[in-house]
Amino acid sequence: MNAANATAARVDPAVVVAIDGPAASGKSTVSREVARALNWTYVDSGALYRGIAWKALRAGVKPRDAEAVKALLARSRWEFPRRGLAVAFTVDGEDPGEAIRSPDVAESVSDIAALPVVRAFVGEQLRAMRRYAPLVMEGRDIGTVVFPDAEFKFYLDADPEERARRRARDLEAQAGAADVAAVRASLERRDRKDSTRREAPLRAAPDARIMDTTGMSVGEVVARIVAVVRAGVGAA
Ligand code: CDP
Repeated sequence: MNAANATAARVDPAVVVAIDGPAASGKSTVSREVARALNWTYVDSGALYRGIAWKALRAGVKPRDAEAVKALLARSRWEFPRRGLAVAFTVDGEDPGEAIRSPDVAESVSDIAALPVVRAFVGEQLRAMRRYAPLVMEGRDIGTVVFPDAEFKFYLDADPEERARRRARDLEAQAGAADVAAVRASLERRDRKDSTRREAPLRAAPDARIMDTTGMSVGEVVARIVAVVRAGVGAA
């Protein structure tokens, strides 16, 4: 047994680290690295909302049409295979891969994610993933709605311009070019929808540790979170 497994063996098996925050706040990179450092399971809840948006776009279903989206969810088959430390998903046997990061999906995902039927479906899948705990799960409402009893809650934020620059850099790596101003406008539209929706709006849980990551490196943010978690589980 290596050192990381020895740590996991002493930990309450149901432990959850919830990492929430607005678009492009660095949650995905940080959460993946935190999970790796702890050797715990990693779940990207936003990927599932993006997957539903992707499926709807392909099926010609309008993202605000609750009945049509509900019917789509009922007729599609979702599976959640483990890939290394991460929990991935397939829909009707297909893995959409990087297609869930496309601008089309980014534009429709917040409308889809505002539908109560979608939140109920995703919430149920995410809660069932506690069977893979200890877990690091990232999203918008993990510490507030999905796992209000999570042992560790973090809310990552960063200056909007820095978030736009970070996301433009990701998109450039995938697609070769990205316009920072357009990316910033898209992030702001999504943040507005995510923060003002009626159900499970984006906000920090009252007991979350809020971290402004502007000017911080990924390594610094990861180190801080891992230190809090290790100290909290008594395995520092
Ligand atoms: O990576 P980025 O921060 O751009 O977004 P994401 O985590 O992939 O989430 C995409 C979208 O899914 C968000 O803009 C929300 O509309 C929705 N989402 C949500 O409503 N609740 C979550 N727990 C996670 C994502």
